[in-house]
Amino acid sequence: MREQIVILTGAGISAESGLGTFRDEGGLWAQHRIEDVATPEGFARDPERVQRFYNMRRAEAREAAPNAAHFALAALEAVQDVLVVTQNVDGLHEAAGSKNVLHMHGSLARAMCGACAARWDAPLVMQVADACPHCAAQATRPDIVWFGEIPYGMEEIDAALQNATLFASIGTSGNVYPAAGFVAEARRLGVRTVELNLEPSAGYSLFEEARIGPASETVPKWVAELS
Ligand code: APR
Repeated sequence: MREQIVILTGAGISAESGLGTFRDEGGLWAQHRIEDVATPEGFARDPERVQRFYNMRRAEAREAAPNAAHFALAALEAVQDVLVVTQNVDGLHEAAGSKNVLHMHGSLARAMCGACAARWDAPLVMQVADACPHCAAQATRPDIVWFGEIPYGMEEIDAALQNATLFASIGTSGNVYPAAGFVAEARRLGVRTVELNLEPSAGYSLFEEARIGPASETVPKWVAELS
């Protein structure tokens, strides 16, 4: 009987690919203020600064390669029913071969229009003066879910949790909702839960099992046990 596995990933799974996390020592939120670069208000106040922030992250993400943890999750799709719900905006799950990936916080690879909500593949460098390819408004922005905005795919995620036999959380500090609430929902539904993280997350006590260590070591081992 195949497992129905919902896997939540966070910045920690991409750390060993060289992409910065947010809340670790020296992380992105130690270098930039969230209110300046990850809120609609910050974008309205200084769109230039926000586009620069995401142009830098888009360039870094394009240079990064998947690590053993991404590849292991891609291989898991061959033997179990897997949905990767990622908070990450990099494309490393897809680059490793994962097919069922839901970017609940958006993606650096996508752009959107603040006027008509059209979405398209983002250029490497986005400029404030760029016009929307659909309505021509100069209101283009990264297709990233900012604080105060509604994450993508919540209905699909809820449905997947309802049918899940196993919920795994990998490389996330468990600080940001609604993602941080998925483990409580899984427990309420009687779904088995496991956390794979470099250190115990904020939701540590809610997981039945924890595997502490770098994702490139813990994830392949965990996947091997499921294969
Ligand atoms: N292997 C496994 N886990 C790791 C590794 C690693 N090599 N390196 C770091 N971690 C863990 C850290 O211990 C931490 O618990 O990854 C987690 C990263 O936490 P955050 O930096 O808070 O990132 P994340 O949980 O993904 O943030 C969630 O917050 O700012 C918003 O939208 C942003 O999607 C992001 C959300």
